[in-house]
Amino acid sequence: MVSRELIERTRAFIEEKFADDATGHDYWHMYRVWRLAQQIAATEPKANTALTELAALLHDIADWKFHKGDEEAGPRAARQWLKSQSADETDIAHVEEIIRTVSFKGAGVPPAMTTLEGKIVSDADKLDALGAVGIGRAFAYGGSKQRPMYDPNVKPELHVDFEAYKNSRGGNTVNHFYEKLLLLKDRLYTDEAKKLAQRRHKYMETFLEEFYDEWDGRH
Ligand code: ADP
Ligand code: NI
Repeated sequence: MVSRELIERTRAFIEEKFADDATGHDYWHMYRVWRLAQQIAATEPKANTALTELAALLHDIADWKFHKGDEEAGPRAARQWLKSQSADETDIAHVEEIIRTVSFKGAGVPPAMTTLEGKIVSDADKLDALGAVGIGRAFAYGGSKQRPMYDPNVKPELHVDFEAYKNSRGGNTVNHFYEKLLLLKDRLYTDEAKKLAQRRHKYMETFLEEFYDEWDGRH
């Protein structure tokens, strides 16, 4: 059983750990994903809400992109924290499995979440990459990697596998919309997330139309 106290201690731990991040993985990303996961879980009667909340707070605890491709860094860090809090082994193993599976790994790699709680965390994480917040995060991330905002001469690539996605270099942030963000609405599991995604998806399409219009001097 995951207690409210453990969720609150985990929230405080994540707040302290991610206070100064400027790559789109700051505390407020974890906070929004936590709240979205709560909202989605409320529409899924079979979901273990407390476990879902815990996994949402911990889902990016050590992202592979910031740990030189070590995909086990996240699950390991989550296990260490939850062990220090005397969490149940079954809950620890479930959270580890969710963290291992949650990250987007390229356009050609199908999503693989198996449990309902994992599906909810995955949906909440993807929703936070969409819409106005998603646009803000994409440009913040691009800036942190010294990527140009846009270059009309560089076309988007659809990465066929995780290796290709992980190793891609030299992209620009507008291309990221085609390589990932506009694909996310078709990778959601729950009805509630699909509903929430519609508005966010349209907003990004409108943003891109405006962006090109301004770029080309149409208005
Ligand atoms: P998540 O938190 O959903 O796992 P990622 O870790 O893949 O997402 O990325 C964090 C944020 O940075 C997301 O909003 C994502 O869209 C953005 N991002 C990731 N890669 C790029 C990129 N190459 N260019 C611009 N934004 C990116
Ligand atoms: Ni995330």
